[in-house]
Amino acid sequence: MKALDLLLNRQSCPRLTAPAPEGAELETIWKAGLRTPDHGGLTPWRFIHVSGEGLGKLADIFEQAALAEAGDSEKAKTMPFRAPLITIVIASPKEHAKVPEIEQVISAGCAVHAMQMAAFAQGYNGIWRTGPMAYSATVKQQLGLAEHESIVGFLYLGSPQTKASKVRELAFEDYVSWL
Ligand SMILES: Cc1cc2nc3c(=O)[nH]c(=O)nc-3n(C[C@H](O)[C@H](O)[C@H](O)COP(=O)(O)O)c2cc1C
Repeated sequence: MKALDLLLNRQSCPRLTAPAPEGAELETIWKAGLRTPDHGGLTPWRFIHVSGEGLGKLADIFEQAALAEAGDSEKAKTMPFRAPLITIVIASPKEHAKVPEIEQVISAGCAVHAMQMAAFAQGYNGIWRTGPMAYSATVKQQLGLAEHESIVGFLYLGSPQTKASKVRELAFEDYVSWL
């Protein structure tokens, strides 16, 4: 797939099924995540791979979080099964005199996008999700996040179950101005 076709035609898919990328294809996705722009070379991210039994473990964590934090536990425990594979992207900022934390969190966000695009380019798709589970203290603790770390996204990946719809086209005149 040509780079510009990917950038101009990419879209997310919320309905995902097996097969999910694995082996060399999955490693390509992770490598794309690690090629993210990174001010100071601080590598301010880490990824948790969730598939197979891991999805059940994540479902238990989501259920616990919803019970502890007044969420909908019945719904929460089904959420990880919306795809055969989830990559949890964690921003793990480092202390640095010249690189503020926000830049490092942006970098981790770029990693989510890069990995979604690498999946798309290989015939898979995905969707970047957050929601209350991304900000839940229970989820962060159960996944072993340190105090300074945060979840920037659950990247759900797999094969698209639905056909791509027409890409929404925005008029650049509405968003771009000239100085
Ligand atoms: C930081 C971030 C968090 C998001 N969280 C959710 C989410 O929790 N649920 C959801 O349906 N879409 C979420 N989205 C939006 C989807 O990833 C997707 O971009 C949107 O459905 C539009 O589709 P498109 O990417 O094909 O334009 C999020 C996007 C971003 C950038």
